[in-house]
Amino acid sequence: LPADIFPGRRNSAGIDISDPLVREPLLERLAVLDTRRWHAEPTFRSPEQGEVAPITQPQDLTHEVGTRRDALPEEIDVAITRAMAIQPGWDSLGGEKRALLLEAAADRFEAHTNEIISLCQREAGKTLMDAILELREGVDFLRYYANEARRLFSGPIPLPGPTGEENRLSLHGRGVFATISPWNFPLAIFIGPAAAALAAGNAVIAKPAEQTPLIAALAVKLCHEAGIPEDVFQLLPGAGEVGQLITSDPRLAGVAFTGSTQTAQAINRTLAAREGPIATFIAETGGQNAMIVDSSALPEQVTRDVVNSAFQSAGQRCSALRVLYLQEDIADETLTMIKGAFEALTIGDPEELPTDVGPVIDPDAKAALERHVARRKKHGRMVWRRKMPRNTAAGCFVAPTIIEIDSILDLRRENFGPILHVVRFKASELGRVIEDINATGYGLTLGLHSRIEATRRFVEARARVGNFYVNRNQIGAVVESQPFGGEGMSGTGPKAGGPHYVARFATERVVCIDT
Ligand code: SER
Repeated sequence: LPADIFPGRRNSAGIDISDPLVREPLLERLAVLDTRRWHAEPTFRSPEQGEVAPITQPQDLTHEVGTRRDALPEEIDVAITRAMAIQPGWDSLGGEKRALLLEAAADRFEAHTNEIISLCQREAGKTLMDAILELREGVDFLRYYANEARRLFSGPIPLPGPTGEENRLSLHGRGVFATISPWNFPLAIFIGPAAAALAAGNAVIAKPAEQTPLIAALAVKLCHEAGIPEDVFQLLPGAGEVGQLITSDPRLAGVAFTGSTQTAQAINRTLAAREGPIATFIAETGGQNAMIVDSSALPEQVTRDVVNSAFQSAGQRCSALRVLYLQEDIADETLTMIKGAFEALTIGDPEELPTDVGPVIDPDAKAALERHVARRKKHGRMVWRRKMPRNTAAGCFVAPTIIEIDSILDLRRENFGPILHVVRFKASELGRVIEDINATGYGLTLGLHSRIEATRRFVEARARVGNFYVNRNQIGAVVESQPFGGEGMSGTGPKAGGPHYVARFATERVVCIDT
């Protein structure tokens, strides 16, 4: 493939909030939406009414954003039945028509910028910058996969027929795909896998994270308004039990899941145990992401990239930096600079503009992170914690924390929040450092700050990670430019936003006609 496979396509421009003429009207429009209430429920509802649960703001648990009504077992059955019935028609529509519908959905998303940003802030606790980036990524996924629908599904590829036969190969939807998506990218990672599955000619039933169904419900509504039929793309809100019922249905052709490694392993077992088609399973899971900094690195650049990678989005990105390896010759001076930038982070209400670090998603996430810090403190190692401002008491805030440890292998699990671990290493130990990082079993992102070309080559040749970033931060992969996804315990691949993603949602057929 050439570097630029879609020369006419561009990622969305985003919103420049450094310009007051853009920022101030946006803030006014968001303020109007601050009291709006939202609701999520299954696309096709049974007459029986299930229980309705409140959705509260992570930054203030006393404030409701709206309500969620979980899918009932009979609604899951109906959803899959309807999706099965319509899928062949959606598949035979062809790549071009599906592309136009996905592009119309991207336009609808952009036309509803204010509602999407407001919900990202209120339901998921995102800062304004994170909310804008989230919208951009969702729109970029829709337009990129629309182009993939054109590229891959616009007709059969003729194959050689040396004996005079006509041979051709075509791609088709596999059937009904379930997408199970996380709360940390409630729009982008909700719509990304769904858009890819739709682009490939599948019908999709989508179960968003239980914490963020409202953004998902808005996204599905906008897709329907764009012309994607309701039966083709359906919402099934709910918690883990709903996901379990969906994934155990023998009619499903595949599941695209983003979330924890443990849940991915459980879904994989469920899929393996059921009857029916051998399901395609696409999983994007966690990481134990490291950054290695040697003595040739530029300290200011390292400081900026460490703080962004570890604390942006309150550390709630699967790409986020968890373990910083500092060469011991420069460790003290680098840590002093990092600590300076760390002390300057603004923590608090994500709807306030200067905020750098907002809340974590819910009380369970907060409790797990606090347990981890308490355990580490007991081991007597250096721990720096930020003092929390007073206005954070009603929300799920975790003070940004830096902890020194001996090795990445001291950490048994991913700590999904604003906690950075630091390990010192000697230049002669670089090989062992990479072995330790590989030995975690995860393989998502790795950062390297070094001006030595041989070091870059050494690390690149040995690290088993999906995304390797050199002399920059290690978050915020851009659709098409940095296709994203890991290996090992971090996921099955293919990479989201890359040229091999959509094809994995498809099946291949060959027709051979003799004369
Ligand atoms: N794709 C996101 C990033 O690159 C992580 O999920 O930060």
